[in-house]
Amino acid sequence: MEQQKRYGHFDDQHREYVITDPQTPWPWINYLGNEDFFSLISNTAGGYSFYKDAKFRRITRYRYNNVPMDNGGRYFYVKDGDTVWNPGWKPCKTPLDFYECRHGMSYTRITGRKNGVEASVLFFVPLKKWCEVQKLTLTNNSSETKQLKLFSFEEWCLWNAATDMENFQRNFSTGEVEIEGSTIYHKTEYRERRNHYAFYHVNAEIQGFDTDRETFVGLYNEFADPQVVMEGKPRNSHAHGWSPIASHYIEVTLQPGEQKDFVFLLGYIENEQDEKFEAPQVINKKKAHALIAELDTTAKVDKAFAELCEYWDALLNIYKVRTGNDKLDRMVNIWNQYQCMVTFNFSRSASFFESGVGRGMGFRDSNQDLVGFVHQIPPRARQRIIDIASTQFPDGGCYHQYQPLTKRGNNDIGGGFNDDPCWLIFGTVAYIKETGDFSILDEMVPFDNQPGSEVTLFEHLKVSMDHVIKNLGPHMLPLIGRADWNDCLNLNCFSWDPNESFQTTENVSEGTKAESLMIAGLFVVTGKDYVALCKKIGNDAEAARMQQAVDAMTDAVKKHGWDGEWYLRAYDFYGNKIGSNECDEAKIFIESQGWCTMAEIGAEDGMVAKSLDSCKKYLECEHGMVLNNPAFTKYIYEYGEISSYPEGYKENAGIFCHNNPWVIIGECLAGRGNDAWSHYAKILPSYVEEKYQTLHKVEPYVNCQMVAGKDAFKPGEGKNSWLTGTAAWMWYTVSEFILGIKPDYDGIRIDPCLPETATDYTVQRRFRDADYEITIHPNGQQKGVKQIVLDGSPIEGNVIPYSAGKHMVEVTM
Ligand code: BGC
Ligand code: NOJ
Repeated sequence: MEQQKRYGHFDDQHREYVITDPQTPWPWINYLGNEDFFSLISNTAGGYSFYKDAKFRRITRYRYNNVPMDNGGRYFYVKDGDTVWNPGWKPCKTPLDFYECRHGMSYTRITGRKNGVEASVLFFVPLKKWCEVQKLTLTNNSSETKQLKLFSFEEWCLWNAATDMENFQRNFSTGEVEIEGSTIYHKTEYRERRNHYAFYHVNAEIQGFDTDRETFVGLYNEFADPQVVMEGKPRNSHAHGWSPIASHYIEVTLQPGEQKDFVFLLGYIENEQDEKFEAPQVINKKKAHALIAELDTTAKVDKAFAELCEYWDALLNIYKVRTGNDKLDRMVNIWNQYQCMVTFNFSRSASFFESGVGRGMGFRDSNQDLVGFVHQIPPRARQRIIDIASTQFPDGGCYHQYQPLTKRGNNDIGGGFNDDPCWLIFGTVAYIKETGDFSILDEMVPFDNQPGSEVTLFEHLKVSMDHVIKNLGPHMLPLIGRADWNDCLNLNCFSWDPNESFQTTENVSEGTKAESLMIAGLFVVTGKDYVALCKKIGNDAEAARMQQAVDAMTDAVKKHGWDGEWYLRAYDFYGNKIGSNECDEAKIFIESQGWCTMAEIGAEDGMVAKSLDSCKKYLECEHGMVLNNPAFTKYIYEYGEISSYPEGYKENAGIFCHNNPWVIIGECLAGRGNDAWSHYAKILPSYVEEKYQTLHKVEPYVNCQMVAGKDAFKPGEGKNSWLTGTAAWMWYTVSEFILGIKPDYDGIRIDPCLPETATDYTVQRRFRDADYEITIHPNGQQKGVKQIVLDGSPIEGNVIPYSAGKHMVEVTM
């Protein structure tokens, strides 16, 4: 049988994915940076960098949608005689004798070899520093002396990534640079309102440079054959307007066996208003010099890299499982947690599918991401909750997004997504359970960032709940507003105008009867959490008030939200059913099955079991569960964007990986471990790594948002990798519901739900100031803890009470 083509493999020991062929079916990228300074880097060194905000502080330029794909990045050109090559193969695409890209935890190492020379580049952003390090190591493995010409290359973005792509009448006249020794400074707009500049430095003497793109590349050449590199001679160009770049030229002689390191630094600096210049028109370089001095030797860089690795060791030591199943362990211990950190940092702003100019931080997205991240760095999660809540309105409604730089609500998109408020409860409860820090509830937090409007965070939670119950429709179910979690179910949009955005257009909403069963389920789940929290802080009156609302919602779902074999999805503007057997298309949707089974609505009447069975029967396929079935085959005016997608893609019957875990959790709560596991394994990247190589196409080490569903032209094709709520939901599902280690107010609740075939496993869990080593003996059971022995003594129930120190726990199912 023909061997399937492979582009790479996991290296668990180094926590890396090793790409061995540069021509991956799609750029396979990684993220550098953990706070403030960030970079995206593909397996051929494509991508870009920015400070905090991919829109407003873009440092280097990138062209999405380019031909060919993924052009532009940090490129090193090695000219060895007549041969010009790049360690990452692109852009010259000179065939290499060896190529390897290792994506690790916040770093990437790309190595190429050609004609006896090896060029290996380690890319990373050091902790707490505003720069990307590119440590290039050149080695002469041949038996001759090598005279190499080395050219570096970065292209500056004129800061605002949106106007950089459109306002050329201005852009072509504003570009400014300065050159000082081996450092090229980019200072466009610094003369006026900007107090920041960037620089590109190398810790070696240079024999030339270029800063003007047309001079370097040549007007009719490309990155693949830049004129200056081909001629082997820099022109020392000084950019004035047009497109400023930074390129160093270094002549390198290497004896046989000799190795040399070069540290390149791409840095970002901010100055105080009154300290911007050191002389008229000359930028103040003091901070740049200081930053360079911190990283100007191999030893200093290696130390910074070791610190980054230790940082990740510590983060990944908080939750570690040993099941003996490498495919599961590597996702739980490494890649799933890593993806959670990345989504927490970026929300949905910057990836190879999100341009970094369209979206800021999502209100609902960030709350969900928090659940995947909170165990790693709780103080950052705390700050995030405050930031998010600060964009809420006094009536509990919310801005749908906010900009990370200003932390202000985004007016372009506005509010009116009626699921948003509930997610604040979801995030806050997860934070308190992880940390035991109830003081966050007393934090004074403004509405819409207006000074003077501050109320406690608890009050924000209260108005969130109230927002749902004050916006009920004719069936006493939540009004959907512009949309619920499904941004594409636009039941008040009614658009025939292709220039209108489905997201922001509400042509009619007066008198709407559009209600959401997804919000109903979400309200019951988060409402129960809210009630428990109120009891915990001694606010029994509020607990009782909200319990009533939760009970009423549960009744409304049972009465008006059940279709016989599954939960309805919604009622449209006119009050007609959506997601019912009575409908011609899209008879069943996943979101309401997920949330109503998680809420266990009607479990006693068999609703939960029937709903879960229907998911298996109608939604499940080879690659996971589709969002709805059958797919819409035509645009439906009163439904909006969902019906705009061709069959099987995105919200129209794609496998939206994000919501598969909802059903899996529903399965876990119902104790159906075999089913939970089989759904989970279908979308677990390492389990389907083979498929990724040619069918899914996107990075095999992370989940993607969407895999084309069974109705698609090409089922199984993956899209929209990295920035997806799938990361947090996969983590929440496996860590808390499958492996069953659940943080709770007073300790850790143990409640696994496993396939019958599961064997003994151990979870090492750091929880507040305690370290637990928890060994589970499933004994062929799918669910149900029989006995827990804590430090040698049996305990009552299944919550291990929190106490600092080291503890051994044995769990028998
Ligand atoms: C996509 C959604 C997304 C929304 C908002 C839609 O086109 O299908 O997945 O949430 O845009 O950006
Ligand atoms: C992606 C968005 O980021 C998220 O907020 C939304 O819930 C899903 N798409 C589904 O539409």
